[in-house]
Amino acid sequence: MTRDHIAFPAGFVFGTATAAYQIEGAVNEGGRGESIWDRFSHTPGKVFEGHTGDVACDHYHRYEEDIKLMHELGIPAYRLSISWPRIFPERGKFNQAGIDFYRRVLETLHKYEIEPAVTLYHWDLPQYLQDEGGWANRATVDYFVEYATKVFRELGDLVPKFITHNEPWCASFLSYGLGHHAPGHHDWREAYAAAHHILLSHGKAVEAYRAGGYQGEIGITLNFTWVDAASHRAEDETMSRYADGFFNRWFVEPITQGRYPADMIPFVESQIGKLSYICPGDLDAIAAKVDFLGVNYYTRNVVAADPSAPLGVRMLEPPADRVTAMGWEIHPQSLYRLLNWLQTAYTGDLTLLITENGAAFQDHLVAGEVHDEERIEYIADHLEAAKRFIDEGGPLKGYYLWSFMDNFEWAFGYSKRFGLVYVDYETQDRIVKDSGKWYSEQISYHRSSQTR
Ligand code: FCB
Repeated sequence: MTRDHIAFPAGFVFGTATAAYQIEGAVNEGGRGESIWDRFSHTPGKVFEGHTGDVACDHYHRYEEDIKLMHELGIPAYRLSISWPRIFPERGKFNQAGIDFYRRVLETLHKYEIEPAVTLYHWDLPQYLQDEGGWANRATVDYFVEYATKVFRELGDLVPKFITHNEPWCASFLSYGLGHHAPGHHDWREAYAAAHHILLSHGKAVEAYRAGGYQGEIGITLNFTWVDAASHRAEDETMSRYADGFFNRWFVEPITQGRYPADMIPFVESQIGKLSYICPGDLDAIAAKVDFLGVNYYTRNVVAADPSAPLGVRMLEPPADRVTAMGWEIHPQSLYRLLNWLQTAYTGDLTLLITENGAAFQDHLVAGEVHDEERIEYIADHLEAAKRFIDEGGPLKGYYLWSFMDNFEWAFGYSKRFGLVYVDYETQDRIVKDSGKWYSEQISYHRSSQTR
């Protein structure tokens, strides 16, 4: 069984996404410096079976064939990220070879008429900045603006869309509070300060982009987890509001409204004390006008009040027959609900782009094929949810599937496969999965239905 294709309006952009540390490898080539993910992945116990991004998909050497494969599949857009330590391997030291690499990548994309969207920060902070506190240190904001400004100047002519940050929640709370990602700290004061500095660096980079008079668009990508209360009991409803504040509103509200959610502030202050890292003018800077909001959506959470759980919140286990290999509940309706909520509560007419959506499943390579029907179902169901939002007038303009190819899935190493293209890590062979073929047909269907 395979799924019917879905008609989208003319101009809707279909793409795929990746990130530098997850695919490039070549960590010691081209003058690149060390990033926090090199340090973290080489620290025993941090990543599944000690996997690292040292080689990854070897995309640094194979970018031409990878882009050619995208072209063969007819995929018209590609979201990639730039590795900051390739551009500034040491403090204040610019590395031309880093820019040259991305210029070659971008030129190759243009040659094949694939439209790039470039993320400046997809979690690979230079280690020398982490040595001084990383995102918990306000000085990192200025270093980010220096880096962003340089990239705008050097590559701005080839980039129609810039994304300042990928998923500030992960780069702060998951990394400095929960400790699952680099730098692996467990300090909530650091985590909240890091979140604030990341948001501030976004706002200041947007300002620098505007000041440079570039032709392209700029925005930010946030991750969202739709939150449902386990019941209508007041305690569950209250906890679901807190969880929503923690995952979603703490980030989207400052970006779009220039304030942190008022109902969350007493709760956060009870955990970490006064939010003394906020300086006058910061929130105005954070709310700099963007051209779009990038939405990453994978799953939802159902929460219940439980006085014995940390912070009194318990996440319910999703039904075992409706989860991906990450254990994430498959819940496409919540993508529709999320987009509606964003538009109504925060973004209005602002363009929304789904900058990530996709799924890991247990893929089996048999006789040169991967029959990943579950991934096709996942993608088709989420595209239908997105389409419903558009049909009702929602300003959603694009969808970037995570991911183009299997890659280094952070703390899970290579054990989780999200790609449309299977990567044999022994040989670096690329094998298009059935989902890759389906997505390719979806795009040609989209092309032909537009011209009908
Ligand atoms: C997102 C990340 C991306 C990838 C997917 C599965 O949180 O932005 O790099 O790991 O999850």
